Amino acid sequence: MAARPFHLAWFLQGSSIQAWGAPWTGNISEDWMYPSLFIDLVKSMERACFDYILIEDSIYIGQNWKDSREIFLKNGMCTPRQEPSVVATLMAAHTKHLGIVPTLSTFAYHPYLTARIVGTLDQISAGRGGWNMVTGSSDLSAQNFGMPRLPNHDDRYVMAEEYVQICKGLWGSWEPGAIVADRKSGVLIDHEKVHTIDFEGDYYSSRGPLNSGPLPQGQPVIAQAGGSKSGKAFAARHADTVVAAPKGVAAMKAYRDDVRAERVAAGLDPDTVKILYLLSPVVGETETEARDKAERRRETAAANLDLRLARLGWSTNIDFSDCDLDAPVGSFTTNGHQSSLNQFLKGSEGKTLREAIIDHSSSGYTVDVVGTPESCAAQMEEIMDEVGGDGFLLELGDLSRRSVASIIDGLVPELQQRGLTRKAYSHAHLRDNLLEF
Ligand SMILES: Cc1cc2nc3c(=O)[nH]c(=O)nc-3n(C[C@H](O)[C@H](O)[C@H](O)COP(=O)(O)O)c2cc1C
Repeated sequence: MAARPFHLAWFLQGSSIQAWGAPWTGNISEDWMYPSLFIDLVKSMERACFDYILIEDSIYIGQNWKDSREIFLKNGMCTPRQEPSVVATLMAAHTKHLGIVPTLSTFAYHPYLTARIVGTLDQISAGRGGWNMVTGSSDLSAQNFGMPRLPNHDDRYVMAEEYVQICKGLWGSWEPGAIVADRKSGVLIDHEKVHTIDFEGDYYSSRGPLNSGPLPQGQPVIAQAGGSKSGKAFAARHADTVVAAPKGVAAMKAYRDDVRAERVAAGLDPDTVKILYLLSPVVGETETEARDKAERRRETAAANLDLRLARLGWSTNIDFSDCDLDAPVGSFTTNGHQSSLNQFLKGSEGKTLREAIIDHSSSGYTVDVVGTPESCAAQMEEIMDEVGGDGFLLELGDLSRRSVASIIDGLVPELQQRGLTRKAYSHAHLRDNLLEF
């Protein structure tokens, strides 16, 4: 391993059914719900020694465009989404080393249930379980659970603080050595080593102990993606890995500095939180092929502005359908993903809504990485050198075997050859792999 190795993870947004109709996507419109697509994917991730796969989730069908679900359903945008912990179980069964990190939203699962699901995942994966902790973003999702709306953005993090205390408490409710399994005395479990947590908060309470037993990792890995001030502070206190999408190298560096400084302020070692940046590299056999692909991505965005704005509206809770495309982007506020909106608005300065949404939708998220495997690897190395760490969360928009191969069999071997990413897993547990460098 070279001087500055970094981590790789994969961002799975549903089963990418929306790639239906694109070249080389096979029969994805039929295959999306069945196991083989996911199994092939995680086996590929593991072959490339990714640290983990993060299974994104949202629990509603969008309606943030002309107050209709049409555009979302017609295009399979952000839907269908399967229940992540079920998909996680399938993935765990077909891998040996890859970390499996499903998203479970705090408004939708009671903390006892989350602790139990993630704890069970840690057990059946032999120490590779994680949880992407999100607080939700849409009132439409709250309404699926009988609530009129989500709590306010900052209150959600206050509630999440209690929530995570319960989860951590429950995971710790079995002391090490609680399972005695002593045939002579006939004691399987020492009841004095299994404790209630008796947590009573303003929002959540739980008695405990966890009935599903102790965990291989003790505490499973927590991933978090809050980009607002309260989101970053929360992540700094609790997350082992942060996934983030700030735009540009300077913003990435600032983001990392912020989270690490908050980590220190919380009395924790900043090297124990690994920040991975969302990236959608465009890899081609030649520079020309890669540039053509990137140009097609821009043309597709420009040709489908309604779709792109609806997608932005989906994560920010805003219906942009009445806005004038050729006027400057107005001012907006949201109770949804605040940092996503702020980032869009920041990138929109001096642009019309049309220009802003094309730029926003055709970029590779944090930075544009386009080229042959060699040049993409060199660009990623340079970015990480400037940012300081800790790796990338890759996403492609489709799960076709061909697209996945461009990363796994194209880009990653080049990164490995440069000593930038791992060629083998050193540890059995996800956290230990994250902490390796
Ligand atoms: C890479 C990445 C992955 C995310 N995954 C999810 C997800 O699966 N479900 C979700 O509701 N929100 C997800 N989010 C949104 C975050 O949880 C968070 O709400 C958002 O980044 C805005 O942060 P803020 O709420 O602190 O403003 C993700 C964000 C990023 C950057």
